[in-house]
Amino acid sequence: MEVTREIPSARRVLAETRRSGRRIAFVPTMGALHVAHVSLMKAAKHASGYLVVSIFVNPTQFAPGGDFERYARDEAGDLEICQKAGVDLVFIPPPEAMYRPDATTTVHVARLTDTLCGPCRPGHFDGVTLVVAKLFNIVQPDVTYFGEKDFQQLAVIRRMVRDLDMPIEIVGCPTIREPDGLAVSSRNAYLTDAQRRQATSLYRSLCAARTRIQAGARNPVELAAHMRRIIDEAGPANVDYISVVDPDSMQPVQRIDKPVLIALAVHVGPARLIDNLLVDPHRTAD
Ligand code: PAJ
Repeated sequence: MEVTREIPSARRVLAETRRSGRRIAFVPTMGALHVAHVSLMKAAKHASGYLVVSIFVNPTQFAPGGDFERYARDEAGDLEICQKAGVDLVFIPPPEAMYRPDATTTVHVARLTDTLCGPCRPGHFDGVTLVVAKLFNIVQPDVTYFGEKDFQQLAVIRRMVRDLDMPIEIVGCPTIREPDGLAVSSRNAYLTDAQRRQATSLYRSLCAARTRIQAGARNPVELAAHMRRIIDEAGPANVDYISVVDPDSMQPVQRIDKPVLIALAVHVGPARLIDNLLVDPHRTAD
C-alpha cells in the first residue's frame, strides 16, 4: 500500500497505474474509518483492480463553529484499516495542498440542495461538491463508491458528474447499521450511553413509517408526525427535519404513490444524526 500527501505524487502513481491498463476505483472519506467505510472499500476492491482511498477532513463543508475541530482524526488507525481492506493507494493531502488561499472557484448543484440538509447546513453541499470535484480531477477514477446513508450527498454528486460530463461511474452502497439499527457514523462516538440508546428511535421511526406506508398510508404530513412522536417519546431531541421526498429530485411529495425517500436529521445531545429509508408503497413487506 502506498501513501501519498502531495497532489503531484498522487498523479504520478495514478498515471503509472492507468498506463498499465488497470481500472481505478475510488472511495473518498474524511477518515475516522469504520465498518461502513470498509464496506465501500470491499465493494470497490471486489469490482476493480486498483483501489484509491482519500482521507481528508474537508474544512469547506463544515460550518463555522461546527464540529470540524473535534471531528475524529486517527491516521495510524485509518492506515491499518486501509491496509487490511486491500487499499492500493491512500491519498492524505494537508489542507494547504487542497485549498490555495486565493481560490475563487465554486461548484454548486442547485435544486437538489434546496431541501433536507441543504437549508440546515448552508454552504455544506457546495463544500462537498467542490472537494469531490477536485478529488475526482486528481484521482481521475473510473468508478467511485458512496454510501446511501448520505443519500442527498449521493444524489448531488450523481447530478454534478452528469451535468459536468465527468466520465466516472458512481455506485451507491447500502447503509451499514449497528445491530440495533442505528446507522454507523463517526459522530455516534459523541453520544453518552443514554443518548446512544435514545438514538435508536431514529431508525425505529423510519421502520414504523415504512410499515404504515406498506399498510396503505399515503399522507406524508401524518407520517412525519407519527415519526416525530416516536422520536420525542425516546427523549429530548432537536429535530432538523423529517421529510418524505422524491428520491431523484429531493423535493417533498404531496402524496406517497411512488417510491419515496424518508429522510431525517435529528440532534441527539452533541451529535447531529442523519438517516433515511427508501420505501416502495407497492411492496407489502420488506
Ligand atoms: P465520510 O463521512 O467519511 O463518508 C465517506 C463515505 O462513507 C460516504 O460515501 C458516506 O456516505 C459513507 N458512509 C458513512 N457512513 C456510512 C454508513 N453507515 N453506511 C454506508 N455508508 C456510509 O461523506 C463524506 O465523508 C464526505 O462528505 C466526502 C464525500 C468524503 C467529501 O468530503
